[in-house]
Amino acid sequence: MSEHATENPTENPTENPTENPTGRATDSAARSVTVRVPAKVNVQLAVAAARPDGFHDLANVFLAVSLYDEVTATPAAGTKVTCEGPDADQVPLDRTNLAARAAETLARRAGLSPDVHLHIAKNIPVAGGMAGGSADGAAALVACDALWGLNTPMTELLDICAELGSDVPFSLVGGAALGTGRGEILTPVPAGTFHWVFAVADGGLSTPAVFREFDRLAAGRDLPAPQASPALLAALASGDPDALAPTLVNDLQPAALSLRPRLAAVLAAGTGAGALAALVSGSGPTTAFLVRDPEAAAEVAAVLDASGLCRATRVASSPAPGATLL
Ligand code: C5P
Repeated sequence: MSEHATENPTENPTENPTENPTGRATDSAARSVTVRVPAKVNVQLAVAAARPDGFHDLANVFLAVSLYDEVTATPAAGTKVTCEGPDADQVPLDRTNLAARAAETLARRAGLSPDVHLHIAKNIPVAGGMAGGSADGAAALVACDALWGLNTPMTELLDICAELGSDVPFSLVGGAALGTGRGEILTPVPAGTFHWVFAVADGGLSTPAVFREFDRLAAGRDLPAPQASPALLAALASGDPDALAPTLVNDLQPAALSLRPRLAAVLAAGTGAGALAALVSGSGPTTAFLVRDPEAAAEVAAVLDASGLCRATRVASSPAPGATLL
């Protein structure tokens, strides 16, 4: 794993006591808190026309998948973010990082200084349409809440998440949920176990750019109000991948393909290798492949790996738990 950080993170905290805000040397081994948080895939993403505020109303069926980042919070002087992992060099370490913003927002509400070092062990693709940045925001919130002993009620944590970004509340709760509004209003939905392969693309796609392309492609059309698909929700609850496969739909997919036409070949390669269904994950460019079982996942991943059409593959299952203190 490569390491990318403004400063070296505390690899072995017992050997590197940090100064806490009061100036006392603190044994960070005793005080660090680690939270594991999942990536998501949208099995239905129905998108309305842009609202006056620029956001789009959605019917967004989220599934958390077993592909995780871990965020470790340790007392420090000021807010510091470091990151390790294959794509660590693409992660912003400044205040635009949602983990830093989560810590600052929580500290402000509690009347504290955001004195915390947040170290992200990154496994979720960066700018990939799998809510990796949102996941780190939710994880940092839970980690800081525990580190600072705040016991913030869940409803308040969800409010902070919604302030941070549309997908952040779902990263907190995980599982399977319908997101309405701009995606932040969550209703849990029943879901059986499903198996997935994800193809990680070279480079990310900007979510606002994909929504702008959606608006361009939709210009002049009357878009219906987004509705959760009853067939999709029934298939999700049944745990039957053959029933779920024909219901998968992502209204952002044409926009992502318009900006990144070569994704069409990745989708075709996955279905050619036996995937039951293929779709762009969220705003992309990660592509998601529904498969029948873990054996099929290994076969589809091997074909995609050999195809040269994607940078890497990941195998995962859903649903996965939300942000969890380890
Ligand atoms: O909410 P978040 O900050 O993650 O959204 C990033 C961008 O994605 C927004 O600035 C907006 O351009 C777009 N977006 C949208 N409609 C949504 C969610 C996101 O247009 N429901």
